[in-house]
Amino acid sequence: MMAYLAMMAARFIELRRVLKPTGSLYLHCDPTASHYLKVIVDAAFGPTNYRSEISWRRQSAHNDAKQGRRQYGNVRDVIFFYSRGDEWTWNPQYTPYDPEYVEAFYKHVESETGRRYRLSDLTGPGGAAKGNPRYKVFGVERYWRFSKERMNALIAEGRVVQLNPGNVPAQKRYLDEMPGVALQNDWGDIRAAAGRERLGYPTQKPLALLERIIKASSDEGQVVLDPFCGCGTTVEAAQKLKRQWIGIDVTHYAVTLIENRLKGLRVAANSYQVVGRPADFAGACELARRDKHQFQWWAAWYLGSHTYREEKRGADRGIDGNIFYPNGPYGTGRIITSVKGGENVGVAMVRDLRGVIEREEAQMGILVTLTEPTGPMLAECASAGFVTKSAHGRMPRLQILTIADMLDGRLPKLPPIPERAETKAKPRRKKDGDQIELLLPFEGAAIKPAKGDFVDPRFDSRLFQSAE
Ligand SMILES: C[S@@+](CC[C@H](N)C(=O)[O-])C[C@H]1O[C@@H](n2cnc3c(N)ncnc32)[C@H](O)[C@@H]1O
Repeated sequence: MMAYLAMMAARFIELRRVLKPTGSLYLHCDPTASHYLKVIVDAAFGPTNYRSEISWRRQSAHNDAKQGRRQYGNVRDVIFFYSRGDEWTWNPQYTPYDPEYVEAFYKHVESETGRRYRLSDLTGPGGAAKGNPRYKVFGVERYWRFSKERMNALIAEGRVVQLNPGNVPAQKRYLDEMPGVALQNDWGDIRAAAGRERLGYPTQKPLALLERIIKASSDEGQVVLDPFCGCGTTVEAAQKLKRQWIGIDVTHYAVTLIENRLKGLRVAANSYQVVGRPADFAGACELARRDKHQFQWWAAWYLGSHTYREEKRGADRGIDGNIFYPNGPYGTGRIITSVKGGENVGVAMVRDLRGVIEREEAQMGILVTLTEPTGPMLAECASAGFVTKSAHGRMPRLQILTIADMLDGRLPKLPPIPERAETKAKPRRKKDGDQIELLLPFEGAAIKPAKGDFVDPRFDSRLFQSAE
């Protein structure tokens, strides 16, 4: 916890530094850390800039008492709202009235239009002492709330009613013209991301939550920054609400998902920039040095493999990605990719990959290396021979691809890799909770990637439609 808090403290200081004077900070946290985090944000932003603690009820109830739960269900998260200074952008948000309130107060229905309305007092409280004018309306003389001209305008609009001759006239207030109830700090009307909204990202937030926050605390054209943007819910909300946006995430997986999400929104790829993804050999070396796992993920993704979810470190058993292809009468072919970001490569790596493709009964293997392969490595590849059941002619079983070659577009000999299948949106079959089912990227495929595989969004349209 201390390491996490120290990491966050540095970020709050930087966030305050880049925030404009009228900007705000929203910090979403779960209750195990919220009280510690508040102390740190108070220190960075100043306790007087604390505005609200929002309680976001993300689900209605945990029903696991029978599974032995011996504490209260955890159904809410905390969202802290801070301003940068004394003035901040603020657009009040409203929620619909409670139906009981509507029944009790808006009890009249206009027969011609079906519009619900209530009657409210037109008389001027305080009478003459408060400067209210006195005159007759529908034969009834009183001190009124409005000037005679304004009253006549209301009468002309049909907004003044007298229920019976001699009754004091009242003003019609239509329900559909009321903004609703001013939003309080208890948000129980937005549930966790579910169903079609889910992209399979474990910590995905609902779009409605981010839309509400962005609407309340920014105007069109202003900048929204999410420094832990995950699959980009903030980015999508900001884009839809015509704000400028910056999303930051340490994982390439998240960045790739966001790119696809934006594609789903028909946002032109040249209208935003992706910064920090290796674009050349030096960038690839830098990533390999900084984060071996991210390097593996990036290289496999670049090659077009289906990669394993990034959080599944060590779960790959020698497989960093899979490329599937139609192999004619032999069904679906599989190419296993293994990525090595170290400076020392050796023949044992080729032998290991050979063992993996034999164990998995895959057709081909590609070893991706940052450094040039040695002679014995190339010899070991050559000795693996060719795919025995190939619908695409002589295909080497094992090949080595260097990052330099990959970036220059000199790819190994591959069978035709299918373009993404354009599938129509279909109603989603609920199967395994809300885990989205990721399928192969071409139609008629017989094998599904294992549960937890990440399907390269460049091929997969279903992330943004629905899983079959
Ligand atoms: C809770 S998730 C955010 C989910 C997001 N709100 C959404 O709806 O998708 C946190 C994200 O922070 C990223 N992350 C973790 N440490 C980070 C760091 N030091 N800098 C930037 N991003 C980081 C993780 O990769 C993860 O995607």
